[in-house]
Amino acid sequence: MKIFLDGKYVSQDEAKISVFDHGLLYGDGVFEGIRVYNGKIFRLDQHLDRLSASAKAIMLNISMTKKELVEVCCETCRLNGVRDGYIRLVVTRGVGNLGLDPFKCRKPTVFVIADKIELYPGKVYRNGIELITAATQRVHPAAISPSIKSLNYLNNILAKIEAIHAGTIEAIMLNHSGYVAECTGDNLFIVRGGRLETPPVSDGALVGITRAVVFELASKLKLAAGETHLTRYDLMTADECFLTGTAAEIVPVSKIDCRPVGTGKPGSVTLKLMAEFHKLTRTEGTPILPVGKRVAAK
Ligand SMILES: Cc1ncc(COP(=O)(O)O)c(C=O)c1O
Repeated sequence: MKIFLDGKYVSQDEAKISVFDHGLLYGDGVFEGIRVYNGKIFRLDQHLDRLSASAKAIMLNISMTKKELVEVCCETCRLNGVRDGYIRLVVTRGVGNLGLDPFKCRKPTVFVIADKIELYPGKVYRNGIELITAATQRVHPAAISPSIKSLNYLNNILAKIEAIHAGTIEAIMLNHSGYVAECTGDNLFIVRGGRLETPPVSDGALVGITRAVVFELASKLKLAAGETHLTRYDLMTADECFLTGTAAEIVPVSKIDCRPVGTGKPGSVTLKLMAEFHKLTRTEGTPILPVGKRVAAK
């Protein structure tokens, strides 16, 4: 496997980062998880825009232009023969000293991995996933904005541990006011009376790229959709519920805190959105073209 690390494509064994890198010492950095379908990178432009916004919010100056990042994502896929897979693009604060001061880090570390992915087992897409509500709350937005896709995932990991201990794989996270924010690695939607509802970003949700795609698909399918404060009660009494994420795609939810959602099987609206999403990912995207034939991100 070839990995892009600080300007070079190196083997997996050579892709090493200093123990003084602040990404490791303090979780000081930002990242994106991006999908490749059928030789095309899905929503690359939006991912790079979100990366740039996250970096701006933490005063991290990415040392590469958007065009260069497009090239590197394409090239890493090409070198590894990844036509259907996942790209992890990470920018850390870089190597510094043992103090917190980010401005003592000379330059950011940038690396890109392109590999295969299977986040959830296939049965989850056929039968739905069971969720629990975690006791761990989403970080307060006044502490760290949940819109920043940073390397600091400890909050989500603590909720994930709760899910695993409860015998499932994903957990709902509530915010400091008790409203639903999102799951540990996915956004959450419900369907109620034929309308799609998802928590507003200000309730602690990441500005999900897949979430935005679902809004587009809803408009295409003439389904009403909007952002609403959601409580656990809203989830428990919803007709349908599903999760969205780059790695997860669209995942039907079968149970929430031991209560079946709707019939307890993937609902018709969810199934329709899954089919439309699949269609879109097979057709749209930035092609991973050979050198000399590449185009800008779409
Ligand atoms: C906390 C969190 N929420 C939501 C998402 C879904 O966002 P996206 O659809 O952009 O992958 C992710 C995954 O990146 C995530 O880590």
